Amino acid sequence: MRPARALIDLQALRHNYQLARETSGARALAVIKADAYGHGAVRCAQALEAEADGFAVACIEEALELRAAGIRAPVLLLEGFFEASELQLIVEHGFWCVVHSLWQLEAIEQTAVAKPLTIWLKLDSGMHRVGLNPQDYQAAYQRLQASTKVEKIVLMSHFARADEPDCPRSSEQLAVFEAARQGLGAEVSLCNSPALMGWPSVPSDWVRPGIMLYGATPFEEGNSVAARLQPVMTLESKVICVRELPAGEPVGYGAKFITDKPMRIGVVAMGYADGYPRHAPTGTPVLVAGQRSRLLGRVSMDMLCIDLTDVPQAGLGSSVELWGKNILASEVALAADTIPYQLFCNLRRVPLVYCEG
Ligand SMILES: Cc1ncc(COP(=O)(O)O)c(C=O)c1O
Repeated sequence: MRPARALIDLQALRHNYQLARETSGARALAVIKADAYGHGAVRCAQALEAEADGFAVACIEEALELRAAGIRAPVLLLEGFFEASELQLIVEHGFWCVVHSLWQLEAIEQTAVAKPLTIWLKLDSGMHRVGLNPQDYQAAYQRLQASTKVEKIVLMSHFARADEPDCPRSSEQLAVFEAARQGLGAEVSLCNSPALMGWPSVPSDWVRPGIMLYGATPFEEGNSVAARLQPVMTLESKVICVRELPAGEPVGYGAKFITDKPMRIGVVAMGYADGYPRHAPTGTPVLVAGQRSRLLGRVSMDMLCIDLTDVPQAGLGSSVELWGKNILASEVALAADTIPYQLFCNLRRVPLVYCEG
């Protein structure tokens, strides 16, 4: 069997969830959209269900997958419904629902619902993606209240630049939120991972941690909470071929790396068809036989090459960590000019193997 696989440490996932709750002092919806950022939504939800206050997903398809697997906890649809016809299923399954646009508000007003809804009313406080305009916010709240279709409203917004600790934009967004919600005595939710890790002054009844649950930091620089995260995914494979090359020989497609001395090269069963980033350059860190080394040349579809020259204990069959507890996904992301979110979400073909610790 091909040795490429992703180990998913569910104990680390629970640790990170508890850390999110402890850091924020709020209730936490575990964000498990996009198949739990590639970690497997159902297994992650099952692992967290005993302690989680609820889950958040991107759409009703993802929410229904959780219910079909027996998850009974609250599930928030982060973009609400895409068509008014989803409202019946939302009611039937007790999903919580974001309202980010006036057309959604109108749809609720015009639809007969068998049970009142829990609505998370989203304000555009400055990210300018989705969310109601500040001038419409109070009126939307009053209309939902008056509709009798709603039993609870949570006031929410989302930060655009919370991963930039010195950027004033988050404070500006918070000020817009505070002005828009003046006089509304409802619970609030603003924080994603970077906000709850980096902006402790943000008021929170609910937080919405995503990336930190998986043990990766959203920050490029150090952070005291990030230092306590435990990586959940270990992407690993093995050396399937070893080559001894003299100086001056090209390695891989496009001859993007030329040996500058006699070198030992290890070929690893891992490629961009597994989700390893093709644009990761020579020098991207890997761990082989317990020692740090580096990627060499272009990543191909099913294989990549690494440097074994100074790793004498490594050879055919040696295990390789592409990212995980030793090589942080954020390090690989930095080298490959991307973010750990994308590394995780892009994972495919490799089997997910679940473990506890
Ligand atoms: C509305 C909302 N809340 C929370 C999150 C979780 O963000 P993070 O993974 O940065 O914690 C996301 C993710 O994109 C989101 O869209």
